[in-house]
Amino acid sequence: MTAAVIDGKAFAEKLRARVADLAEDFTAAAGRRPGLAVVLVGEDPASSVYVRSKGKATEAAGMASFTHRLPAETSQDELLSLVRRLNADPLVDGILVQLPLPKQIDEDAVIAAIHPDKDVDGFHPINAGRLASGLPGFVPCTPLGCVMLLKERLGDLSGLDAVVIGRSNIVGKPMAQLLLGESCTVTIAHSRTRDLPALVRRADIVVAAVGRPEMVRGDWIKPGATVIDVGINRVDAGEGKTKLVGDVAFAEAAEVAGAVTPVPGGVGPMTIAVLLRNTLVAAHRNAGIPLAADAI
Ligand code: GUN
Repeated sequence: MTAAVIDGKAFAEKLRARVADLAEDFTAAAGRRPGLAVVLVGEDPASSVYVRSKGKATEAAGMASFTHRLPAETSQDELLSLVRRLNADPLVDGILVQLPLPKQIDEDAVIAAIHPDKDVDGFHPINAGRLASGLPGFVPCTPLGCVMLLKERLGDLSGLDAVVIGRSNIVGKPMAQLLLGESCTVTIAHSRTRDLPALVRRADIVVAAVGRPEMVRGDWIKPGATVIDVGINRVDAGEGKTKLVGDVAFAEAAEVAGAVTPVPGGVGPMTIAVLLRNTLVAAHRNAGIPLAADAI
């Protein structure tokens, strides 16, 4: 293996420690803790695990965690009225409605109902528009975490060729916007892209966010490139066991790349750390307490 392994777990721990310090300062100044409300509808096992770990991480950072678990048959109106209550609650700085939602609920309508100043997921169209326009706003946690890892590794990203594989609203599109904001030359690839390997071979930065186990092969990677793997796929490991793999064939990529994120332990831990960071920023804005732009 020649590539450096990017330790997202260690970076996320440092970020969480910094957020916890600043949360303590906020609590002293505001007379209350920053607050994050997380809403889970139904009993999807993976979502339940995420929601529990978000709640624990929030408390560990010295913030107030409000978890709302609603039954799978919750109607759209019931969920919208909870979102409106949370919008109006002065103890709640950030609201996260865990996706996916049950099929009777229109996700877009729920996202649009969250107040943009409490939208710590950065999914509201106002925040997506702000990101596309280069205006300050909330940025989705996973892509922001990826950019933090890239800047820590590479420093200035300007002029680099970046390929983002995947065009979701949660990762691919905001990732591309962030890289454009860092003055990369950005290509967004997707399921209809022709000759994806040739495209990826030109890239200094590859971000894989497609949800297809080990799709990106080692011989697609330009020697020395930095590879960020957003995929988390559970696959059969034989003998009745399963394991987690990314969207990149890690062992192959590590023979060619300059640096690569592992799965698990790469991008994954960054998502919750950035969620806490966004909640801290929301708390300062909502309470009218300044937070230096370079504080976090
Ligand atoms: N489901 C999977 N990832 C996410 C996320 O980042 N935010 C929300 N709200 N739901 C998700």
